[in-house]
Amino acid sequence: MASVTTIASHPTSAFISTPEFSRLSQSLHSSLRQRRCSRKSVCGTISASIDLKPPPYALNALEPHMSKETLEYHWGKHHRGYVNNLNKQIEGTELHEKSLESIILASYNKGDILPAFNNAAQVWNHEFFWESMKPGGGGKPSRELLELIIRDFGSFEALIQEFKLAAATHFGSGWTWLVCKCCVCSTKTHDQTI
Ligand SMILES: [Fe+2]
Repeated sequence: MASVTTIASHPTSAFISTPEFSRLSQSLHSSLRQRRCSRKSVCGTISASIDLKPPPYALNALEPHMSKETLEYHWGKHHRGYVNNLNKQIEGTELHEKSLESIILASYNKGDILPAFNNAAQVWNHEFFWESMKPGGGGKPSRELLELIIRDFGSFEALIQEFKLAAATHFGSGWTWLVCKCCVCSTKTHDQTI
């Protein structure tokens, strides 16, 4: 696992309503509290379920590059749905006490995919996606990363062009990844690079 950036490709996306977002926002602080006390926690309540981790910034913080509505949809609806579905799937199973990464690896089952894999992988993908961005972020990388990009793509600009092309021409929903081996690959909806 060594991805350095991602871009979402969800061509069938629609946006949720503002009233729904208000309810989601109210649950944000509650989610943060639960996150501190979940799974292997020593602070009291142990809920052996996967948390819905909020993006590490306000949902409008990436504007104008990514709209608040986009985050409302992909975090508040997509990401939340995958978390809820995964928790239902692992309830009472041997996956129940495992970390998200362990669930992904176990449910991938050496390529013989188990039912929990799709939801677990999409939870990880979305978490990684939020954490790959920040307000005021982006721009040209420096030092070793830039050297690797130039080595494998010719220039930073060429990478951007290839990355956009891979995302825009990927059929259906999915993700486009840049991994440390410095190649661009696209994965189907739930697949990812762990
Ligand atoms: Fe999404």
